[in-house]
Amino acid sequence: MKKLISAILFLLPVAALAAGGGTTHPNQKANINYSDKASLQNGAKLYANYCQGCHSMQYVRYSRIAQDLDLTEEEAEQLILGEGKLGDTMDKAMDPDLAKKWFGVNPLDLSLAARVRGNDWLYNYLRAFYIDKSRPFDVNNTVFPGVGMPHILADLQGLQVKSDELLAAEEVISMGKARMDELKAAIKDPESSAEAVAKAEEGVALIEEEIHDAQLEIARLSREGKMFTIVEEGEMTPEEYDHAVRDLVAFMAYTANPVKLKSKAIGLWVMLFLLILLVLAYFLKKEFWKDIKKK
Ligand code: HEC
Repeated sequence: MKKLISAILFLLPVAALAAGGGTTHPNQKANINYSDKASLQNGAKLYANYCQGCHSMQYVRYSRIAQDLDLTEEEAEQLILGEGKLGDTMDKAMDPDLAKKWFGVNPLDLSLAARVRGNDWLYNYLRAFYIDKSRPFDVNNTVFPGVGMPHILADLQGLQVKSDELLAAEEVISMGKARMDELKAAIKDPESSAEAVAKAEEGVALIEEEIHDAQLEIARLSREGKMFTIVEEGEMTPEEYDHAVRDLVAFMAYTANPVKLKSKAIGLWVMLFLLILLVLAYFLKKEFWKDIKKK
């Protein structure tokens, strides 16, 4: 009996671990709540207003969204792009050739984006656009460097630059790497004296430590959401913007995995069923052993 319970407990976390993601900068948790219908509804609205013009969701039907998110027919119709009907999939408005010409790449279908990239990745990505005049749309992104997408939510978030703390840490790393290259060249140079080599090796160790510290600093800024400074305010405060992005990601997480809304409820029934089975099995075992012990 004890063994059975520990086996069940042992297997439970495996499912949770399977859904991990990589490290991004910034690196904050999306913390979405699937059972919050208002959040999902707001996410759907944001998606329809800001993303649908370029990205398709070819596996998602308006009617299914309406049903799953408890939208009235009128509310659902507000999500529909152009001449679409309630039974249509959320297919794209943008001509792929035109998109290629404008952006150099085709905006991907986003039906499954949350499953491919992960919720936290999306949450950080949509909050990580910063001004970079060298880029075609004057913005870059620390989660997706060299991204070909403009900062579509700039009117909500405003515009931000890398914070002084982040710039300082990045400077330490890039200067350190340049100095390290010089020192390594000196170490390799056959003309260098033994003394010079020893000194250069000492220098390399020191710089490695500096770079390591700077990386830790970036990880801290990344975790604490201190990578950027707003230079042009948007319609929302940073808190409101984070909230809006959380709703948008919740909606995308739902489209990537529509059964998730139901799976929690189903999961509870399954656990209940297993518990009842456990009790029955226990009494069955007792019954069997009664006979065996008698003999
Ligand atoms: C003006 C067109 C346009 C709009 C509007 C737009 N995007 Fe994009 N998006 C792009 C392009 C182009 C790319 C491809 C970027 C690249 O590969 O460099 C992209 C890439 C992405 C990616 C990365 C996909 C991947 O896995 O590589 C995500 C996620 C994304 N967009 C989400 C959104 C969301 C959410 C919205 C709405 C808030 C949105 N986009 C609005 C053009 C757009």
